[in-house]
Amino acid sequence: MERSAPAPLRAPAPGIGMVGYAFMGAAHSQGWRTAGRVFDLPARPVLAAVCGRDRDAVRAMADRHGWAATETDWRDLIARDDVQVVDICTPGDSHAEIAIAALAAGKHVLCEKPLANTVEEARAMVEAARQAAGRGQVAMVGFNYRRVPALTYARTLVAEGRLGVLRHIRAAYRQDWLVDPAAPMTWRLRRDRAGSGALGDLGAHLVDLAQYLAGEELTGVSALTETFVRRRPDPDTGARSAEVTVDDAALFTGRLASGALASFEATRMAAGRKNSLRIELNGEKGSLAFDLERLNELAFHDHTEPAHTAGFRRILVTEPGHPYLKAWWPPGHALGYEHTFVHQARDLLEAIATGVPVSPSFAEGLQVQRVLAAVAESAEKNAAYTPVSP
Ligand SMILES: NC(=O)c1ccc[n+]([C@@H]2O[C@H](COP(=O)([O-])OP(=O)(O)OC[C@H]3O[C@@H](n4cnc5c(N)ncnc54)[C@H](O)[C@@H]3O)[C@@H](O)[C@H]2O)c1
Repeated sequence: MERSAPAPLRAPAPGIGMVGYAFMGAAHSQGWRTAGRVFDLPARPVLAAVCGRDRDAVRAMADRHGWAATETDWRDLIARDDVQVVDICTPGDSHAEIAIAALAAGKHVLCEKPLANTVEEARAMVEAARQAAGRGQVAMVGFNYRRVPALTYARTLVAEGRLGVLRHIRAAYRQDWLVDPAAPMTWRLRRDRAGSGALGDLGAHLVDLAQYLAGEELTGVSALTETFVRRRPDPDTGARSAEVTVDDAALFTGRLASGALASFEATRMAAGRKNSLRIELNGEKGSLAFDLERLNELAFHDHTEPAHTAGFRRILVTEPGHPYLKAWWPPGHALGYEHTFVHQARDLLEAIATGVPVSPSFAEGLQVQRVLAAVAESAEKNAAYTPVSP
């Protein structure tokens, strides 16, 4: 652990205003609450107000998670003088409208992934962020898996050249909550609300991670998608069944700018897989492998070592020299999923106070959106190779 007495604060405390208060709302609340207690932040955030459309439910959430005030319209949240950072934890159909309004109102923005439901929306968000950057505002996308210390460290190893020329990325994100055909409709199964299905929900994380770890972009894809269960019971309307308008699974291959080849699998139909995210990179000089179910570990094979002793070794990424770890527990005292949101809050607040460029930026979120659009287009053309449009 780093210290007992906190370092002096260097900036005024930013007030956070969060829209959406369910799954990500709870995870982000933990991040905002904890970041200033663990890390020496330039300024400790204040949980100023949380917004949801159900007055009683949002009040109950605010009490549980320590938010000072509540709002029932996100426009009122943005207008508050005590809110400097707007944190968007709503489904994708509202990301663009809220983010653009918040940036126009002079607020910093953290927006959950995927950045938007379409490339056009994402483009408008990038333009709003570009104009806001000129006024010193920050806009970041919530690709939180970049902030698993093992994956942040994997990026360091790749950037240091420990893998040499990259040949392959192999990425899979598998869940099983749609295996049961009686599992009900949710906003995640409606194209107008979610943009796409497993592709935008899970595949977006894989695409972002692949590009982040490799330090280069995907230039084209070839894809298959499928909706295995096309109608599901609809608890909202009471209808016996409603149409599922997104994919249950997306499989695609891709080419990176360097010529490396990548494969991706995103599915909510993999029985027994709850939140299984695995990614492996193979280069001329070595390989790295990561499994979210063992997120404190990174497997590294150094191919420059003599063959008779070389092999994958397990790096326990809990040393004070590893990313983010100096502020946490002694080596071996592991971290988990929720810590990624603490790291996300910490990095955003650092960027606001210091002006260091924020990553993943809205522009990086747009690049992911372009890849998702190319995947959807390729799948419509029965896996025809489809360039990622600039
Ligand atoms: N980073 C991750 O690991 C991760 C994980 C899950 C979801 N997400 C993303 O987070 C976002 C939210 O997903 P979730 O799982 O929290 O969904 P959720 O259904 O659990 O919560 C959505 C919340 O948004 C609120 N909401 C919807 N429309 C609103 C509006 N117009 N005004 C105010 N509130 C509104 C709902 O009431 C609810 O509180 C999505 O973009 C999703 O893709 C990211």
